[in-house]
Amino acid sequence: MGLTFLVLQEQLMSENLSPSAENSMIKQLETSRRMSHLVKNLLDLSRMEQQDILDNVQMDLSVLIGRILDDYTDVLAAKGIRIRNHVGASLPVTGDSEKLFRLFVNLIDNAIRYNLPSGGEIKIKGKKSKTDLCLEILNSGSKIPEQDIPHLFEQFYRVEKSRSLILGGSGLGLAIARKIVILHNGRIEITNGPDQMIQTTVWLPRNRYAEQA
Ligand SMILES: Nc1ncnc2c1ncn2[C@@H]1O[C@H](COP(=O)(O)OP(=O)(O)O)[C@@H](O)[C@H]1O
Ligand SMILES: [Mg+2]
Repeated sequence: MGLTFLVLQEQLMSENLSPSAENSMIKQLETSRRMSHLVKNLLDLSRMEQQDILDNVQMDLSVLIGRILDDYTDVLAAKGIRIRNHVGASLPVTGDSEKLFRLFVNLIDNAIRYNLPSGGEIKIKGKKSKTDLCLEILNSGSKIPEQDIPHLFEQFYRVEKSRSLILGGSGLGLAIARKIVILHNGRIEITNGPDQMIQTTVWLPRNRYAEQA
């Protein structure tokens, strides 16, 4: 976290400020928080561009997703989102656990962020074959305009710019997600799915080296 952030936060807590000064300080705090989030994402992206060496460990995506959902319990409850995790059975994969964690955090974060303001729903499904895994994350929310769909994975691309700004995104989450999927020789897609839900699908080879052989 930047120094500006800390200084602002301290002033906000310790000083007797007029409402307008406090307001402007809160705005600066928000901007500073957003900047630090943006810088973190940019660093991630450039790091991944340089480093195509992946950690290669055996892990279970079903455990990973369970852990992420646990971390988001409070956020989900606060937004009144009902979650249906159908992943259940084990989804073994050999890959980079830190990057795969980041991938699914970004996708679940979007499924929460772009959900309905109330009464929202998220469904997660997992399938496996001998060689591949398929993960589907479905969320309620406004349909994505068809003309935006081909651009969603571009850096800084956001649908409904002003609304997304309020929702606080940087437009880098899916660019990072796609990079991670490609590093694992997989594929990712977002479509307007069945039952008015937005569907994010990730296909991953269970062992990207075996796949290439
Ligand atoms: N699960 C989803 N449901 C609805 N819209 C989505 C979803 N995931 C991504 N989007 C749209 O794609 C845009 C790009 O996503 P992302 O790269 O994660 O950027 P952001 O930082 O804005 O979240 C978002 O601004 C949003 O409009
Ligand atoms: Mg995002």
